[in-house]
Amino acid sequence: MPQEPGDEERDRLLAVAREAMGRAYAPYSRFPVGAAILTAAGGTYAGCNVENASYGLTICAERSAVFGAVAAEGPDLRVRAVAVVAASADAPCTPCGACRQVIAEFGPDAVVWFVRGGRPETATLGELLPLAFSR
Ligand code: THU
Repeated sequence: MPQEPGDEERDRLLAVAREAMGRAYAPYSRFPVGAAILTAAGGTYAGCNVENASYGLTICAERSAVFGAVAAEGPDLRVRAVAVVAASADAPCTPCGACRQVIAEFGPDAVVWFVRGGRPETATLGELLPLAFSR
């Protein structure tokens, strides 16, 4: 198993997520979110939220990034780390419950980086989604 990704990788992935946030399509919520995935193969994949006039069809930034990563690397992809950035300054934007479950499918031991009050914070997926469903 490769070493845990470090601070440099964290900052790089958060920067990729921030850039992706700039491409979000969020005219309804006005809450743009960007995400970036680091895979075990060393790939980096960005995602952003894409909303729809039929609100329930909206896809979150994190799932957009994971699905893009799978489309690029294939079904054996492993997620090592996920970075999430939202425009909100104070409230930390961590992956929603649905995205946690999707991340767990490809990276149950993934590290999740997010921002609180302008500073990076770290959580494991296990902390964010204890007793995750699996079959
Ligand atoms: N959203 C994300 O993209 N990721 C999250 O982790 C939480 C919520 C999006 C969905 C919707 O477009 C907007 O943020 C407001 O909920």
